[in-house]
Amino acid sequence: MTVVMDDVVARESRFVLQTYKRNPVTLVRGNGVRVYDADGREYLDLLSGIGVAALGHAHPGLAAAISDQAQTLIHTSNLFYHPLQGQVAERLAQLSGLPRAFFCNSGTEAVEACLKFARRYWFTRGEPRAQFVALDESFHGRTFGSLSVTSDLHYREPFEPLLPTVTFVKTNDPASLLNAVSASTAAIIAEPILGEGGVRPLTPAFAAAIAEACAKTGALFIADEVQCGLGRTGYPFYYAKLGLTPDLVSIGKALGGGVPVGAALVSQRVAEAIKFGDHGTTYGGNLLACRAALCVLEELTDRGLIAHIKRIGELFEQKLRAIAATHRIVKEVRGAGLMWGLDLTRDAAPVVGAGLERGVIVNRTADTVVRLLPPLVIAEADATEALTRLDAALGAVGAAA
Ligand SMILES: Cc1ncc(COP(=O)(O)O)c(C=O)c1O
Repeated sequence: MTVVMDDVVARESRFVLQTYKRNPVTLVRGNGVRVYDADGREYLDLLSGIGVAALGHAHPGLAAAISDQAQTLIHTSNLFYHPLQGQVAERLAQLSGLPRAFFCNSGTEAVEACLKFARRYWFTRGEPRAQFVALDESFHGRTFGSLSVTSDLHYREPFEPLLPTVTFVKTNDPASLLNAVSASTAAIIAEPILGEGGVRPLTPAFAAAIAEACAKTGALFIADEVQCGLGRTGYPFYYAKLGLTPDLVSIGKALGGGVPVGAALVSQRVAEAIKFGDHGTTYGGNLLACRAALCVLEELTDRGLIAHIKRIGELFEQKLRAIAATHRIVKEVRGAGLMWGLDLTRDAAPVVGAGLERGVIVNRTADTVVRLLPPLVIAEADATEALTRLDAALGAVGAAA
């Protein structure tokens, strides 16, 4: 089938609700870290669909698993048992240390579930707590609960009033956090590495303040690992690297390698507070989603993908820092493993455009940050080639400045 870019754009502009400002590229197929547009142009993908295509594109194992499952049984609803949900939950428990999982379909639903389970925990204890403490520059999703703990006015304002029981504190300011958390705080929610907020890792001092605040007040801790979790940083979860032990963890993005699936991971004490019927979703954890998640989790743990990320992540960091040092427009390089941000002295959008012209996909976040979330399977030669193209894009934008 021939795909004509102009037809695609014309049809979308007529029939698709205009909530996304897209790049002027129509992608039609992929292979590993490469994707191809309607004219056959190749791009090295340093974004993987915003951290989703963990195994790269058209991964043979994932494709075979999904195809096999589609020909067997895709969906049963949660009215019945099926063999796969427990297997995914068991693997997630081994990886995270949290014994139980609730399955949903996206990152924002995973966060919603965590917020609800935190409220339910305090309700069950007979001492309801309404308050949440969240961070400036945080992003937790677009549904009402997740949006309520997301700080950016641009996302919030058109939909207000949101939950009134949220206090925002300065990211990486321990005093600000310790002041805000009290005996009426149900939970603190934080991304161990803020993603949309500009790829900002929490500092060890701030992580220690989270642990201290929870210990003092009993507040639960929700780690939002939707973007930085599942091996992306070279650790199964970045909260462990920070020495934190969350009661609730939200995951999504990479979990299904492109098949929509999310989960809330739950500690024993919170799990004991949850009753039948407290929460649910029609699709959550169906066979197709679970089969895809099993495939991703097997690659991560049984086939050494986390070790690969640690090794390739170090090389990636070295090369990225070396390139960044040659561009005056790069102020700071932040991140871990295969999650990086280049904070620029200027708007990052032209770098995205210059990258596309040179066959590399990156994106802009927090206005000035070029964000890199390559497929977790990226090999050294492809990483080198992609970063060479990014180097050229940074050079072109820097020269024009
Ligand atoms: C940390 C974090 N939490 C939650 C979400 C929301 O996930 P979704 O877009 O799948 O709803 C995102 C999405 O970017 C995210 O980065």
